[in-house]
Amino acid sequence: MIFRKKSLSILLCAALLSACGNTGSIQVIPQPAEVSLHRGEFDFSKARFAYDSSMDEASLNYAKGFERCFRQASGIAGEGENEVRFIYDISLPCEAYEISSTRSSLEMRASSLNGFVYAVQTLKQLLPAAIWGGPAEDGTEWTVPAMEISDSPRFSYRGLHLDCSRHMFSVEEICSLLDLMEMHKLNRFHWHLTDDQGWRIEIKSHPRLTQVGAWRDGTMVGKDFGSNDGVRYGGYYTQEELHYVVEYAAARGITIVPEIDLPGHTQAVIAAYPELGCNGGPFEVLTKWGVSDDVICAGNDKVFELLEDVFGELIDIFPSEYIHIGGDECPKTIWKKCPKCQARIKALGLKDDEHFKAEDYLQSYVMNRVESFLNDHGRRIIGWDEILEGNISESATVMSWRGAAGGIKAAQSGRNAIMTPNIFCYFDYYQSRDQENEPLAIGGYLPVNRVYSYEPFDEQMSPEECSHILGVQANVWTEYITEFKGVEYMILPRLDALSEVQWCKPENKDFERFRASLANMRNIYDVLSVNYATHIFDGRMDEEQRALPSVTHKALGKKAVLLSEPHSSYRFHAPAELLDGKRGDKTFSSGAWIGFEGEPLVLAVQLNKRVDSVTIECLSDKGNYIFAPVSMKVSASEDGEHYTELGHLEFAAEGPDDTDGIKSYTLTLDEPCKVKWLKIEAATIDALPAWHPGAGAKAFLFVDEVIVN
Ligand code: ACM
Ligand code: ZN
Repeated sequence: MIFRKKSLSILLCAALLSACGNTGSIQVIPQPAEVSLHRGEFDFSKARFAYDSSMDEASLNYAKGFERCFRQASGIAGEGENEVRFIYDISLPCEAYEISSTRSSLEMRASSLNGFVYAVQTLKQLLPAAIWGGPAEDGTEWTVPAMEISDSPRFSYRGLHLDCSRHMFSVEEICSLLDLMEMHKLNRFHWHLTDDQGWRIEIKSHPRLTQVGAWRDGTMVGKDFGSNDGVRYGGYYTQEELHYVVEYAAARGITIVPEIDLPGHTQAVIAAYPELGCNGGPFEVLTKWGVSDDVICAGNDKVFELLEDVFGELIDIFPSEYIHIGGDECPKTIWKKCPKCQARIKALGLKDDEHFKAEDYLQSYVMNRVESFLNDHGRRIIGWDEILEGNISESATVMSWRGAAGGIKAAQSGRNAIMTPNIFCYFDYYQSRDQENEPLAIGGYLPVNRVYSYEPFDEQMSPEECSHILGVQANVWTEYITEFKGVEYMILPRLDALSEVQWCKPENKDFERFRASLANMRNIYDVLSVNYATHIFDGRMDEEQRALPSVTHKALGKKAVLLSEPHSSYRFHAPAELLDGKRGDKTFSSGAWIGFEGEPLVLAVQLNKRVDSVTIECLSDKGNYIFAPVSMKVSASEDGEHYTELGHLEFAAEGPDDTDGIKSYTLTLDEPCKVKWLKIEAATIDALPAWHPGAGAKAFLFVDEVIVN
């Protein structure tokens, strides 16, 4: 642990700017909107605390908690002549706050608990790191600069999500996550409580949901989908525990948005109540990751009876206006064959049309029916962006995860949206390209600076459409995160970057200033003994971004260079598998190159080999997803730098025939030749077609294998 004294260096920025009321920046994340630094300092060691009598109870408790925290950390018990005042100021917007300090007084003004939370959090970052868990060393200077801060957030929804189905974390761990959120001024905890691999919320009216649904007979090992570690895994949160966490969060200005994932990702439900599945089962709580075809039956009214009981109990625990009802990744294969589902489709008159299939409309029917129940109880729904496929109500809020397209589409249709695009906001992705030296993760590459670069307002959106973007959230899926220390590692310091995307106006963002402030956060994390990734601190992040990623061609034992970096990628991304000579398992996730948002694949390989033809095998165009390239170019080089084209192909929109879910594109060279360096460029289509819910957005390319003959 590093206990750092208050020193001049920490306030370097402040000191440089302190000549009479300069505006400037301070070492606080997220950076406050307006800061003006003055000469001198306010000394907390001589502080006495005063509380406005009109503060509400929650704010008063919070403010007094800060005094206790300061006295404990500093060991200073006595009251001095410097006054710290908490002032209730109704003129300030709900989450705004102001801090004004001179040599003799420090005032914090806010009109709500959240405002006071954020004022205190700003101050705590300006105080010595020992404030986060003293005792402080002798001689620690408990000062903050004389200054004026006027601050409020850019977005009203500032979320973090945690999947507690794939792996579960204790109540204490969830509370420590809430502490990290509080520190970063986040205000929504999206709690993913149910999925195929485990149901985690006690429902008194349906005890089998946890008796059966909360336990799985083992877990796949690593990425071996055929394996099982044989260790029974599970657990759930009792309603009493959930009430405790809700209150713990509320005391920090955080609302918990619980998620019951519907109608897909429900294998744990039908494991508990097999009669609610389309074919009666039996079903098991899933022991491997991925998307299960076994989902609840949309044609069975007993399903809706259960759901009303579940949501009835859920809303008694969670006061959140928004309830998340899932909607992602629901295969319709079983519904297509189920007489009850088909009878419902008939009774409702649902039909395939140029946009969607009847079964997509059936999913909308499920979501709309649950929404009306929740609306009748004064709540609103959020769903993953798949809910736009069909006829979801206008009042649903869309959580955009497959890139930004769903959020843009939602905003354009007048719906509200929360942006969680995987390519910027999936904290289950790797933070480094050096995957072998990282904890096993789902894939992807999302370094801190890329999180930081995210701008939620897309250029194609009008100001009116932008007003529908409620905010931004990062998602933490836990297939490969088994311990809470792993959660900490995956979110820190990416949560710091996220918090500035959520809080700061674009003109107030500055990556270099942010990076400098991270040094201060790192001291805090050390005091708190939390686990964090160090790539941005030790130079690895910069180094690996300067170098091009390379993979080994397993068959040839040679190095291949990816000339276009998939800065964006889908969940699974393992470039090494592009050249391993093995075709994927033809599931949704088997592609090795997943160029997103129009990215081409550009691969160079040092061959020294005669080349007759080059083949790329891509996942087939299934339903809503476009995986296919539209062109392929092959070039050769003597030096790996200067290339001459050997041939290229343009493909028809539909591409070659599909064999076992794979489409194979081969370019046979007119004149086979010996090639030292070979470059392959495959481009994806520019924009998704009109029938696609993300119409107009860029498509992505899903290459499984590159074969050179
Ligand atoms: C998701 O990542 N399936 C929402
Ligand atoms: Zn059915």
